[in-house]
Amino acid sequence: MRLSAKMGRLGTETAFEVLARAEALKAAGRNIINLGIGQPDFKTPAHIVDAAVKALRDGHHGYTPAPGIPRLREAVAADISKRRGVEIDPNHVLVVPGGKVTMFFAILMFGEEGAEILYPNPGFPIYESVIEFSGAKAVPIPLMEEKDFSFSADSVLNQITPRTRLVIINSPANPTGGAVPQEEVDKLVVGLAKRPSIAVMSDEIYSRMCYDGREHVSLLQYPEIRDQLILLDGWSKTYAMTGWRMGYSVWPESIIEKATRLAVNCHSCVNASAQHAGIAALEGPQDSVAEMVSAFDERRRVIVDGLNALPGFRCRKPGGAFYAFPNVEETGMNAKTLQNRLLEDVGVATVAGTSFGAFGEGFIRFSYASSIASITQAVDRIENFLKSET
Ligand SMILES: Cc1ncc(COP(=O)(O)O)c(C=O)c1O
Repeated sequence: MRLSAKMGRLGTETAFEVLARAEALKAAGRNIINLGIGQPDFKTPAHIVDAAVKALRDGHHGYTPAPGIPRLREAVAADISKRRGVEIDPNHVLVVPGGKVTMFFAILMFGEEGAEILYPNPGFPIYESVIEFSGAKAVPIPLMEEKDFSFSADSVLNQITPRTRLVIINSPANPTGGAVPQEEVDKLVVGLAKRPSIAVMSDEIYSRMCYDGREHVSLLQYPEIRDQLILLDGWSKTYAMTGWRMGYSVWPESIIEKATRLAVNCHSCVNASAQHAGIAALEGPQDSVAEMVSAFDERRRVIVDGLNALPGFRCRKPGGAFYAFPNVEETGMNAKTLQNRLLEDVGVATVAGTSFGAFGEGFIRFSYASSIASITQAVDRIENFLKSET
């Protein structure tokens, strides 16, 4: 068989490999603390599950319109109005099987040989992978520890060239937990609005997970770039629904039809019962979201303090999401070695920063979507490991 050249350029998401290895070790009887995988450790709230079961019992078994059932698109628009204070047309909403699909579509839509796409690095690994796959040049926006992993608007704008087609922004961010302050977003928007031929994809999948009184700043709140903006959000993280495969996107009027066409070519529509669950999630009680976020906040403090007390570790306080991204250079081990040793030697699953791009060297990612008891135990195990190494 002769695969197309682009298959050789497709990357992967190492977190899934770590998960597979952690599961294999567990199956072999090892006690593994999994701080590797980026998903809430909570169950999907019962009223959401009930809505899906009811939909199946009521006979919602068929295809739905490709962009999503109208009630759900309206519920997304209403939620955006409530949380982001912006009115959007439900016809600009595309419901997709997970947030990843939005990035896949957006990157395929703009990426080709000769094009450049800017993306955060360290960042969600699928950005770089799909950009390379599309044939475009992946241009990293370096995220710096000393700026709490925020970007500087000037440095993003300075990287724009006549070949730039798409700029990808992610705040709050994976893997760093960085949240970009409003002033930088304001500045970035001024620059982007002057370049209306460049599309912007704002990945706001962690929009509900902001800490220390921060308000999430959505790029949708800037009407001057509305015709350039693709918003990525969804149910996975907010409602502990990663396995349901439910995401949504908001597209500029000029390209929503193209995005829908990609959906028709790719998956036809999202699972019908999951879409009914999506309505229940957006319209039902939100206390479970608040409880989950407050649990993450408490764990964030525990893990950051714990990591900062480890020899060779230093950890910024993340402003959002559920990740801590300590600098581990002073342990003397590179990120990948440390990741492997922590998993194999002491049974703590983490993900090396290099899995999120070259600028992740020297860091490892801890997901604190795990109980305080297991976080504390993981930190103890790492401390003993580091002591035994010196
Ligand atoms: C920044 C970011 N965007 C998008 C996604 C994808 O979300 P989904 O599981 O809905 O595809 C993730 C998942 O980890 C993520 O971290």
